[in-house]
Amino acid sequence: MPHNIIIDTDPGQDDAVAILLALASPELNVLGITCVAGNVPLHHITRNARQVCELASRPDMKVFAGCDTPMEKPLVTAEHVHGDSGLDGTDLPDPKMKLQDQHAVDFIIETLRSEPSGTVTLCPLGPLTNIGTAFKKAPDIVDRVKEIVLMGGAYFEVGNITPAAEFNIYVDPEAAELVFMSGVKLTVMPLDVTHKALTSRTWIDELIAIGTPVTKAVAGLTDFFERFDVAKYGGTGAPLHDPTVIAFLIQPEMFEGRFVNVEIETQSELTRGMTVADWWYVTDRPKNAMFIGSVDRDAYFNLLTQRLRLL
Ligand code: RIB
Ligand code: CA
Repeated sequence: MPHNIIIDTDPGQDDAVAILLALASPELNVLGITCVAGNVPLHHITRNARQVCELASRPDMKVFAGCDTPMEKPLVTAEHVHGDSGLDGTDLPDPKMKLQDQHAVDFIIETLRSEPSGTVTLCPLGPLTNIGTAFKKAPDIVDRVKEIVLMGGAYFEVGNITPAAEFNIYVDPEAAELVFMSGVKLTVMPLDVTHKALTSRTWIDELIAIGTPVTKAVAGLTDFFERFDVAKYGGTGAPLHDPTVIAFLIQPEMFEGRFVNVEIETQSELTRGMTVADWWYVTDRPKNAMFIGSVDRDAYFNLLTQRLRLL
């Protein structure tokens, strides 16, 4: 029985790879793709998401525009990582497929109310603004969510946009707090695991050698995406953050983590957006998240290669 999922995303090169992996995988039934402002402003996000769907030969996929600013503070973007378009590294044609008229938040609410309770998984790959807004607007849907598997946060790996915070959480900590405190079954893919999911020259060359439009585009996207992390962290390889969410739903056994309490800093300017994980159980705060710390890197990239070549 495939997982019924909604991908909430801010493409973003790594989001693009996650969407492609999902659309190539029979284990998943993508009910819709909801766009949120994050890596770049929303109008780029909605274009990018449709470009990726057309690249996957899925112009039928429903793509929705969502929130263009975080719940409380101004938007922070990451063109320094993703380029001005958000999908620098390839030159996909302008999309022909149309955006859905319905707002992404209303699509999330309507879908959770109409699908049988406990059958829809939410897969946020960007700031949690759409999800937090939906939970605030329609509290009745919270108990109907099967589970949330999200990319965001950091603990041992510390922050990538500030010394304390990972980008997705930092952009909208208020939304993140609503999600993390919601009581929904939650699996978190933080930088602690995504920084171990690094691309390699060998893998990119393999994609180029396969030579399909999808694998060549992914090679270009990850090549571009890598330059920022190599310059910042040294070494080689780009952390393919967002596809870990999709890979977890397909092969959870390739990941390892710990069920702990994770809470979000929203008050301090110094540590705003930090995911405070009680990894060593030093408090009696209730456990609320499976916080993933490691991945079988070869299994991860083998799955990506195996599935991307199918598109
Ligand atoms: O910090 C990494 C996250 O921020 C990824 O989801 C990337 O796409 C950006 O949104
Ligand atoms: Ca993202």
